[in-house]
Amino acid sequence: NSDANSSAQKSSQARQLDPVESAKRAAAYAAVDNHVKPNHVVIGIGSGSTVPYVVERIAQQGAAVNEKRWFVPTGFQSKELIIDAGLRVADVDSFPSIDVTIDGADEVDNALNCIKGGGACQLREKVLAEAANDFIVVADYRKNGTQLGTKWTQGIPIEVAPFAFAKVLQNLKRMGSADAKLRMGKAKAGPVVTDNGNFCIDAPFPLSYMKDPSELLVKIKLLTGVVEVGLFCNMCKAAYFGNQDGTITIKT
Ligand code: 5RP
Repeated sequence: NSDANSSAQKSSQARQLDPVESAKRAAAYAAVDNHVKPNHVVIGIGSGSTVPYVVERIAQQGAAVNEKRWFVPTGFQSKELIIDAGLRVADVDSFPSIDVTIDGADEVDNALNCIKGGGACQLREKVLAEAANDFIVVADYRKNGTQLGTKWTQGIPIEVAPFAFAKVLQNLKRMGSADAKLRMGKAKAGPVVTDNGNFCIDAPFPLSYMKDPSELLVKIKLLTGVVEVGLFCNMCKAAYFGNQDGTITIKT
């Protein structure tokens, strides 16, 4: 929410960050420094708890450069972040081509395939990743994996049309995701509803199925009722991970 966003943003440099937050900030700052150039005019802003540090760093580039820019959010959270930082919000209708999109991830493998959608924003995130000349991922060390599904074990986030969710769940189970589940809200009062009015299923697959994420992506995407799959294959140009010791690992 906007209060949480704004307090993360305003206080990050003033307060002592724990090791995970420090790692997120280090990754975000390095990615902005390397990939958000003065001549970039349209910038995509992803979702999650690492992205506030991306916006914080971009704001530090100063009003002279930022007042010429447009910022396209991947959802409600990032829209609020952009507004709170005094930056200009745009949408992908106006800017279907984006200079650079920076976003978080739930897990990244050595080929830069990602699992995304821990915040159920994977549809808009994928549109902005695809629209960008450069799609850059920022995360802490816990997300740096070798094979998808080893670190992020909750399953692949899948956005589905509400009408079709039971059928998609049945088909995912038949495909091998025995524990596929509809994602419920915190109070368990009802399903999580995405910014697009859809539901989200989390589908864990055995690791043998995750060896070829592109193939699995196509199979899931072909299920009727699936809107988007949180497997991002062959999209990411570079992934930045903040480490516990203060260093950064960059995968390209
Ligand atoms: C939301 C996402 C997030 O980018 C992902 O969950 C990572 O979040 P965080 O930076 O909090 O670890 O995909 O749908």
